[in-house]
Amino acid sequence: MSALATATRSVNLGQGFPDSDGPEEVVDAAIEAIRAGMNQYPPGPGIPELREAVAHHRQRFTGLAYDPDTEVLVTTGATEAIAAALLGLVDPGDEVVVLEPYYDSYVACIGFAGALRRPVTLRPPTYDLDVDQLRDAVTDRTRLLLLNTPHNPTGAVLSREELEAVAALAVERDLVVVVDEVYEHMTYERPHVAAATLPGMRERTLSFGSAGKTFSMTGWKIGWVTGPADLVAAVRTVKQFLTYTSGAPFQPAVARGLRLPDEYFTGLASTLRGKRDRLCAGLAGLGLEVHVPRGTYFATTDVRPLGYASGLDFCRELPGRAGVVAIPHAVFWDDQEIGGPLVRWAFCKADLVLDEAVARLATAFG
Ligand SMILES: Cc1ncc(COP(=O)(O)O)c(C=O)c1O
Repeated sequence: MSALATATRSVNLGQGFPDSDGPEEVVDAAIEAIRAGMNQYPPGPGIPELREAVAHHRQRFTGLAYDPDTEVLVTTGATEAIAAALLGLVDPGDEVVVLEPYYDSYVACIGFAGALRRPVTLRPPTYDLDVDQLRDAVTDRTRLLLLNTPHNPTGAVLSREELEAVAALAVERDLVVVVDEVYEHMTYERPHVAAATLPGMRERTLSFGSAGKTFSMTGWKIGWVTGPADLVAAVRTVKQFLTYTSGAPFQPAVARGLRLPDEYFTGLASTLRGKRDRLCAGLAGLGLEVHVPRGTYFATTDVRPLGYASGLDFCRELPGRAGVVAIPHAVFWDDQEIGGPLVRWAFCKADLVLDEAVARLATAFG
């Protein structure tokens, strides 16, 4: 979709990457590291400075203490953490309970592991967790629960009550829980609750973070995993043969970012809240049904009010008709009856870009 946006000179609200760089001190730290010669393979688990900063950040925002040597791992983006965790923890024939709609790499990696996905549906327009469906999805073959909160593509943020239900089930059935928290600092209505903080969860939960999301540096591909030593070791063992290591000069830079004052993290959320409100108001003004997200930098609309039954058809026609690119939810769903008419719009863009997109849409559909 990004290639299509470039080819058609469209405003790209498709792929989730910000159109401005992250904090200057983080950029400077990477440049300094390159100049200082940090350009060879860093240690496989990540440089100690970054593992310590991850542990410090985790303690600062969740209160949980992790040992930087055994309970923290640096990965090539959260993408590698997802792949390594599934390959390391799941055997062929196992079942993975996972929220639908799915972030796309979950489906691929569950497949790579030879496992089966058992969906729990987040239904529009509120995308709340259906705790009964979650309970029913767990069988004797379930190896792990794979959660994503704040959730891409719906923007749902699991509430403390929802996570308590997850925790109770995980403890009762003795399940490993893997939580993708790459949007942890992007919540607008309710705070992000780290699943690992709930009773009985720290010892069974792996959590993932991403510098790409937290510092608007998606091209750096630095992610991290925190969890109990045995689970982190399983991820590290696979990671060793996926990439072994990466991002030498970016690692000290991300370490610096993770120690930025609280205002950086609250500022990120408040800037994005403004962009969310700007885009959602514009989309609603076109007559679209907008599902305003509580987190992430994606908003969802149902495109049926514009005369389209299919979000896929809408997104195929959109660059030609309006000069805008968006992503059809269809790619995130098995259940096309629910996902088919939905479309995802990224709002991590300059205000002028968001305004231009809305103006173009108004011209095309007004
Ligand atoms: C839910 C989710 N997890 C993981 C990733 C990938 O993170 P990274 O860029 O750190 O690999 C993304 C990126 O869009 C995402 O939305």
